[in-house]
Amino acid sequence: MAEAIQVIKVAALSGSLRKASFNTGLIRSAIELSKESVNGIQIEEIDISQLPLLNTDLIVNGNYPSAVEAFRQKILKADSVLFASPENNYSFSAPLKNAMDWASLPPNCWGDKAAAVVSAGGGFGGGRSHYHLRQIGVYLDLHFINKPELFLNAFQPPAKFDDDGNLIDAETKERLKEILVALRDFTLRLHK
Ligand SMILES: Cc1cc2nc3c(=O)[nH]c(=O)nc-3n(C[C@H](O)[C@H](O)[C@H](O)COP(=O)(O)O)c2cc1C
Repeated sequence: MAEAIQVIKVAALSGSLRKASFNTGLIRSAIELSKESVNGIQIEEIDISQLPLLNTDLIVNGNYPSAVEAFRQKILKADSVLFASPENNYSFSAPLKNAMDWASLPPNCWGDKAAAVVSAGGGFGGGRSHYHLRQIGVYLDLHFINKPELFLNAFQPPAKFDDDGNLIDAETKERLKEILVALRDFTLRLHK
């Protein structure tokens, strides 16, 4: 019988590489919230900026480049995945797709993990990116929570982030907390 999970380990990936990214700010806030007020969840931000662009010629004698291998191991060890997904041209970002592709190569690192997606962006708050991400999750065997949803319009006043991309909006923090609770509970249901 599988060992019951006590504290779920979440790998958190931001699809934006810029320093003051709103989406990376959502992940930093999720980490803070997990420490302060959500029991049973441990979130690690996984840096995808050092991954080379996908090129299977870089796999030599079955070995992945070291940055890719380290990334794949982190995904494999996680119980679930939190994506913070900027919307680029109505889809999710190229860096995130690159990371997902590297970890999809055999053995698929994403399989049977619970996942959640949040976003901050323009008019629809990055929401369109969710649907492409969810679609790819079908093939990768990721199980996304459906609700609650978080698409945050980052440009509508009052300001939601400070100049460094830190989330400063109390209502959004509350909504983010609800996502973490739902992700934790769904992960536990999936693996009980
Ligand atoms: C190439 C590119 C395409 C974009 N396309 C969209 C888009 O389709 N919809 C949208 O709401 N915002 C779009 N944006 C704006 C970004 O979503 C916005 O700048 C967001 O703040 C980026 O996330 P970040 O703050 O985490 O870097 C685009 C930005 C770039 C650079």
